[in-house]
Amino acid sequence: MANNDKRSTWWSKDTVAVVTGANKGIGLEIVRQLAQNGVTTILTARNEGRGQSAVSLLKAEGLQNVDFHQLEVTDLKSVEDFVAWLKQQYSGLDILINNAGIHSYGYTDKKQGAREVIGTNYYGVKNVTKELLPLIRTGGRIVNVSSKLGQLETLNNKELKDTISTEEHLSENLIDLFVNQFLEAVNKGEISKQGWPTCELGVGPEAFSDYSVSKIGLNAYTKLLASQLSSRLYVNSFCPGYTQTDMTGGLGDKTVKEGADTGVWLALLPPSSHDLPSGKFFYERVQIPF
Ligand SMILES: NC(=O)c1ccc[n+]([C@@H]2O[C@H](COP(=O)([O-])OP(=O)(O)OC[C@H]3O[C@@H](n4cnc5c(N)ncnc54)[C@H](OP(=O)(O)O)[C@@H]3O)[C@@H](O)[C@H]2O)c1
Repeated sequence: MANNDKRSTWWSKDTVAVVTGANKGIGLEIVRQLAQNGVTTILTARNEGRGQSAVSLLKAEGLQNVDFHQLEVTDLKSVEDFVAWLKQQYSGLDILINNAGIHSYGYTDKKQGAREVIGTNYYGVKNVTKELLPLIRTGGRIVNVSSKLGQLETLNNKELKDTISTEEHLSENLIDLFVNQFLEAVNKGEISKQGWPTCELGVGPEAFSDYSVSKIGLNAYTKLLASQLSSRLYVNSFCPGYTQTDMTGGLGDKTVKEGADTGVWLALLPPSSHDLPSGKFFYERVQIPF
């Protein structure tokens, strides 16, 4: 891959990356590729046993530069414990990959499913990012694993679209209100009526509405953070594509190696001020509309 080009290598074994939800799937593969590139990588997982097994697997592949710590992104105590450990062990980090994510397909209680999806995919990213921000060294990168289901075009209501896309009004409070407004629509049974995203994947038009809204929120947060941190850090999001993981029941047209590629590429882009993007959304290493 292009990141192996020594002329563009800016990192060393002292470069530290953190990946959330990394015991399997795309997260595990991102850890593998970062470690193969020589970055010291912290594999985090909400379940200690599953996380340790994943680390053992990578060590057996010869990757000794992988460490582990428990991290449940929706649990503030877990986040605080992780950050305290990271500070003590590594003093800081250079790359944060917010990968942990869920969908609610298969949940019988759709209201609870929607709360959990928004809680993990949007609020979970904020929990981790806010606590880690003071430890991310200047020039560092934040990469958020998003989805094309979180593009603005999935919204069927112009007012909602305008609310979340007007950059000069964008604030954390506004994004929180946006996702909370969706949760109210779920409670009222008005997802389609209010113009929230629907999709035709053959499993009911509202099956992935919560997932879409969580990733719209994540993309908006990516933009906001990028503008707030413009002189210090680079913040981008990407869609891995339809990737063969447990999330898709093993279906998909991409392998995890392919799905992880754009995230690793964004994390390791050379620090030339010309082509280092921030606040952008990518698919297959190409910028696409938010
Ligand atoms: N696969 C695709 O086609 C696709 C497409 C677009 C975007 N994505 C995104 O890619 C990311 C990775 O998905 P994947 O396909 O690799 O799914 P996956 O195989 O189901 O892996 C998801 C990972 O997230 C972890 N996780 C879930 N909730 C968590 C929480 N509250 N705290 C910490 N970790 C948590 C899971 O841990 P457990 O093992 O403990 O459950 C697992 O390690 C997600 O953000 C997803 O939305 C995937």
